[in-house]
Amino acid sequence: MTPGKNIPVITIDGPTASGKGTITRLLAQRLGWHILDSGALYRLVALAARKHSISLDDAESLQPLAAHLDVEFAVDKDSGEIVTLLEGEDVTQDLRAETCGNDASQVAQIPAVREALLARQRAFREAPGLVADGRDMGTVVFPDAVLKIFLTASTEERARRRYNQLKDKGLGVTMRGLLDEIAERDARDRERAASPLVAAEDAVQLDTSELTIDEVVDRLWSLCQVSLH
Ligand code: DC
Repeated sequence: MTPGKNIPVITIDGPTASGKGTITRLLAQRLGWHILDSGALYRLVALAARKHSISLDDAESLQPLAAHLDVEFAVDKDSGEIVTLLEGEDVTQDLRAETCGNDASQVAQIPAVREALLARQRAFREAPGLVADGRDMGTVVFPDAVLKIFLTASTEERARRRYNQLKDKGLGVTMRGLLDEIAERDARDRERAASPLVAAEDAVQLDTSELTIDEVVDRLWSLCQVSLH
């Protein structure tokens, strides 16, 4: 039997910059549950590949890298923020860069990399529950989730959100560049053969283009009341 099978999981899948990260964090906070940011794992594989000068399409070298990824999540004593250490080095900032997201989308095309990360993702399933954010959470990683959400938003709205997010962090980007990158990443994530970005048949689809963050969380909260009782 798969470990933690009786522990409830809510999956939140969707394209890049659809608000999954923020919504996942807020919903998990309300529920008092754990979080899996599966995109971070693909981003870490991409960073590790760059660090070791491994090409992003070299499946043979990327598989062991993904399987033995040396990662630690620590809490910064001063800020209370989560710090990500890759092979002992603080990569928290590098991880959020657009280039890293793009690199991640490339390594994520490789079936052996996805397979190598499966057990690591499932290990996040701990009591009292897990909210898992990604592309294939509801279809592949947690097909038995109690509630599956598929978030969407128009490309323009997603580019605008990502622009504000990155600008706030002081990372240099342009709207034009973001629109192109998001469109390219969407196409790659949707069209790949291995676990493509697609809504699970039993997922609830929600277009967030016209909704505030609080409105989205409230809707998901209502869905939770039905699914968890
Ligand atoms: O969610 P994110 O932007 O951090 O994800 C970065 C890339 O990783 C994304 O473009 C595709 C890949 N990814 C994936 O293939 N499957 C997941 N479950 C999560 C992310």
